[in-house]
Amino acid sequence: MKKTIVVACSLLSMTAGFAQTKTSADAKMNSFVTSLMGKMTTEEKIGQLNLVTPGGTVTGSVVSTDVDNKIRKGQVGGLFGITGPDKIRKAQEIAVNNSRLHIPLIFGLDVIHGHRTIFPIPLGLSASWDMPMIERSAQIAAQEATADGLSWVYSPMVDIARDPRWGRIAEGSGEDVYLGSQIAKAMVKGYQGNAYDGKSVMACVKHYALYGAAEAGRDYNTTDMSRIKMFEYYLPPYKAAIDAGVGSVMSSFNEVDAVPATANKWLMTDLLRKQWGFKGFVVTDYTAINEMIDHGIGDLKRVSAEALKAGIDMDMVGEGFLNTLSQSLKEGKVTIQQINEACKRVLEAKYKLGLFEDPYRYCDEKRFANEILTDDSRKAAREFAARSMVLLKNSNNVLPLQKKGTVALIGPLADNQRNMLGTWSVSGDFAKSITMLQGIKNVAGNDVKVVYAKGCNISDDSVFAKKVNAFGTEIDIDKRSPQEMIDEAIRAAQQSDVVVAILGEAADMTGEASSMSDISLQPSQKRLLRALKATGKPVVLVLMSGRPMTIVEENDNMDAILEAWFPGTEAGNAVADVLFGNYNPSGKITASFPRNVGQIPVYYNYKNTGRPYHGGPTKFRSDYLDVSNDPLYPFGYGLSYTSFSYGDVRISKLNPKGNETLTATVSVSNTGKYAGEEVVQLYITDPVATVTRAVKDLKGFQKIKLQPGETKEVTFKITTEELKFYNTDLKYDWEAGDFIIQVGGNSRDTKSAKVNWSK
Ligand code: BGC
Repeated sequence: MKKTIVVACSLLSMTAGFAQTKTSADAKMNSFVTSLMGKMTTEEKIGQLNLVTPGGTVTGSVVSTDVDNKIRKGQVGGLFGITGPDKIRKAQEIAVNNSRLHIPLIFGLDVIHGHRTIFPIPLGLSASWDMPMIERSAQIAAQEATADGLSWVYSPMVDIARDPRWGRIAEGSGEDVYLGSQIAKAMVKGYQGNAYDGKSVMACVKHYALYGAAEAGRDYNTTDMSRIKMFEYYLPPYKAAIDAGVGSVMSSFNEVDAVPATANKWLMTDLLRKQWGFKGFVVTDYTAINEMIDHGIGDLKRVSAEALKAGIDMDMVGEGFLNTLSQSLKEGKVTIQQINEACKRVLEAKYKLGLFEDPYRYCDEKRFANEILTDDSRKAAREFAARSMVLLKNSNNVLPLQKKGTVALIGPLADNQRNMLGTWSVSGDFAKSITMLQGIKNVAGNDVKVVYAKGCNISDDSVFAKKVNAFGTEIDIDKRSPQEMIDEAIRAAQQSDVVVAILGEAADMTGEASSMSDISLQPSQKRLLRALKATGKPVVLVLMSGRPMTIVEENDNMDAILEAWFPGTEAGNAVADVLFGNYNPSGKITASFPRNVGQIPVYYNYKNTGRPYHGGPTKFRSDYLDVSNDPLYPFGYGLSYTSFSYGDVRISKLNPKGNETLTATVSVSNTGKYAGEEVVQLYITDPVATVTRAVKDLKGFQKIKLQPGETKEVTFKITTEELKFYNTDLKYDWEAGDFIIQVGGNSRDTKSAKVNWSK
């Protein structure tokens, strides 16, 4: 065994990293992989395409069996769902010591918003609009993951989502393609660094493609859209990850153009590899090959062959490749070249990660002991969580709270560790999370008395609770009656100066297989809020949710609303930092908040239609009889404890020509009493074109900090790149004419200027 590893190492110089000159590193890798593959049987090659899980993260109905034995027989290329250098070392030893060619395994996991130290859910992180912070969150996650034995993470999830019923909206960056692409880039950079240096991981962008457009927001449902919409609004974030050098891609469960993504050759080969130049490997989602039987594509042998032919390299859990590809090869249904290609890509990934050089590279017990959940990473988690929160309402400046008097802290999420981390925090330990109650006590100081009452259950519906509680008791139905709990809460409120109600969703009311048809607060919580409001005390609602919720009633009745998402390990401290003004909120929502479910999909970059609605009770316009077209809170919206005012948009040249560059400048002033940060957003409208365009599209943003009374000039550079769009021939270009340049603090409230751009 040792011998092979030594021989293998002699073919390497150092671990191939991004820093090495590409061609020489590639040539070395090539010769190593070619020589190794020369020794492999077809069965061993197929074994490399098999990704198994012995349990741990289980999101389908299957787990792998007889894993050790399969590793020995060379039937496994990678493992996911286990952590810890000791366990990973043991599994690696089986591969390296007992399989014929001693090929190391690759170890992956869902590291989505932090690994052991949990950061806010991705939708929350995106609301920070802070790219260096998001990159850093991925970097810390990579450091913890590699200290825990892992070298491959199933993130970033870059699926654009315009439907908050879809539970997985929590895992992405919201509705906008431009922001989503910036975040995709930042995450890949954060995870992978400049080289696979032992502390960085290989990222896996997912779910390619269009998974976020599931019909009716129901998970795993059909998607169907025009190519123009695909290219304009859904594909660019995956492409951004690829341009940033992402090492792997995960196929999605849904179909694209009536062919499941996992068997879609156009998607996996023509677009991904030929057009975009992707060089890494593609893994399926969990049993996505097998699921094509239910999609109606054929039996296991057929769907496995279709997946390989489409360009899939690795089969997650389903073992369709393992069990059918040899036979398909014999029958001429697939070719040895196709198997070779896939095997080569998997081996290349292992090579790049340095696993041939040292299969135990990520099994360092010392790092495991010292680099996980450190003070520094917890500090970062606290800061990132505060920076992700969005202040939705703040009447009469009820916030920030004063550090004196009595606060009634009410709600089933107020003294609750279980739900702080949010969905997809598979390696997070909720027992290490800070509750709201604890955080408020930590931050408020001795002059604040805190009176706590649970007030209600997250939901009183035991059937619903059972479904949500699939991974543990997140919805814990109290023995007391709902009225007893409300009475206790009212008594607490009556003794207090202000009520802080921590309400919203349990962690797994969003995430995979957690779609909801009603995205308002549960009836138990609505009743509680009405009772609290009736006490006449000011009520601050801290909303924990993994999606935009429909909260018209709460917006009407609450004095303040802070969207805290699922803040992660440092939840309570971060929320308290914001409530008491240690941090002035600066987040802006990245998915519109609908007024009701009937409005969905509601998003800022909609099309005008031939009968746009301009207000008033007119008939025959594109509107509803019973609700306005506007969301409750528009994309990009979020308040601060201070206020900002925007000057007019000044354009450097009103009649640019050809490839000239413009600048659009605004003065932004802090007109309030607190220092604060503002996300200054640039939108562009193209009112006349050969295809219909959205009413506006985000094309830039800058997050700035201003002291009270301070004014800053914010300048955006605009080139013809920002004017380009896909036309009917899918040509990406711009057309001459007028453009409206808009700058503002959200997608609705902007100042604008017109330019005429000629060719
Ligand atoms: C999810 C993926 C995830 C995979 C592995 C699937 O069910 O859709 O996002 O990476 O499981 O856990």
